[in-house]
Amino acid sequence: MTNQTLILGPVLRYAGDPLRGPWQDAVRVDSAGGVLIEDGQIIEVGSGADLQKAHPQADLHRYGAGHLIAPGFVDAHVHYPQTAIIASWGKRLIDWLNSYTFPEEMRLSDPEYADQIAGRYLDLTLAHGTTTAASYCTIHPHSADALFEAAAARGQRIVAGKTCMDRNAPEGLRDTAQSAYDDSKALIGKWHGQGRASYAITPRFSPTSTPDQLAALGALWAEHPDCLMQTHLSEQTDEIAWVKELFPQARDYLDTYEAHGLLGERGLYGHAIHLEPREIDRLKDCGAALVHCPTSNTFIGSGLFDMAGLTARGIPVGLATDTGGGSSFSMLRTMAAAYEVGQLRGTPLHAAQLIWLATAGSARSLHLGDKIGSLSTGMEADLTILNLSSTAAIAQRADQASDIWESLFATIMMGDDRAIADVWVNGQKRP
Ligand code: GUN
Ligand code: ZN
Repeated sequence: MTNQTLILGPVLRYAGDPLRGPWQDAVRVDSAGGVLIEDGQIIEVGSGADLQKAHPQADLHRYGAGHLIAPGFVDAHVHYPQTAIIASWGKRLIDWLNSYTFPEEMRLSDPEYADQIAGRYLDLTLAHGTTTAASYCTIHPHSADALFEAAAARGQRIVAGKTCMDRNAPEGLRDTAQSAYDDSKALIGKWHGQGRASYAITPRFSPTSTPDQLAALGALWAEHPDCLMQTHLSEQTDEIAWVKELFPQARDYLDTYEAHGLLGERGLYGHAIHLEPREIDRLKDCGAALVHCPTSNTFIGSGLFDMAGLTARGIPVGLATDTGGGSSFSMLRTMAAAYEVGQLRGTPLHAAQLIWLATAGSARSLHLGDKIGSLSTGMEADLTILNLSSTAAIAQRADQASDIWESLFATIMMGDDRAIADVWVNGQKRP
């Protein structure tokens, strides 16, 4: 007999994209729902009572009315090596990289330290309800091994890549065009498609790669078109001015990638705040995805991402903490920041849109929307169960809520890891 698990309670269901059309047509909550799981997969989602009747032998887990059974959170852009320097004070992007980030990334030259930080990062983020992240590593190939191994040990789906930099980074944090190509290729062979792992070719950003390195990584992507490619784009105005100096021939920042084979449908471009009209047109034409990192964009002082304008163009957008430029490991806090940035732009997102972005939206940006990010038949069983009354402050607001969305919004705005009642990874409840 097979082992089935039936999880009962209010279930978050998606029928479409709530950023394109009325959110009410795309997102709903089945207040007495059920999710049936077998061998790490979701077999069926529907009425809790019907599922219980049809599967009386299933192992039952019941979550009460003050809970929400949601897909596990998907963080579409993080730097796990920056775990220990999160919330470092007072610098903007380039100074922040030089003062805090590069010295810490240097410490991961020690494989034992890399293993320690990879495990710490996954444990911290699981406690915050994040079941999958797309992470940059350091230039050291073993830093990618460390994260892939730590994720496999926890049964987690993961996207990661060795970061490539061959200029404008300190001695000890530079590779070369050839070694970036060779090491990334070897890591693709070792990890891409192994279990729940996928590889993202990872040039850090144009200022830290020579044109030769960008071209080598573009060639590698052409050889492995099913890999993702992740990088940064137009985060701060000083950075954009520097890119113009370094690449005088380029039409704009995106062109520094495009000219080297690094613009494509499986491309993920983090931040993308100060875009030119040509860049937006090209991103749209290629079907590339952008990643919104709202706590980072306010923390490092980068600017306000145009969620409404870019999604109206049909450009897929994921949501991300950008740990440790972002100031929180929590996708709840990240949703709250996305709401606040929307308010500053006059286009606030609804709670249903925010949670969709943190799950299905991010999964779609990673081309994993058929595996994770929503609760439906055939999906992998990664679930985050929210307690919508996790603190006295939230509970007293939830008591006054007239529907589930008001209640969820209070948890989005004020919740933290205490709001995570349980996390299920690959069909197993985390201890
Ligand atoms: N641009 C290049 N590297 C980084 C990084 O590590 N964090 C952020 N926020 N932006 C970057
Ligand atoms: Zn980043």
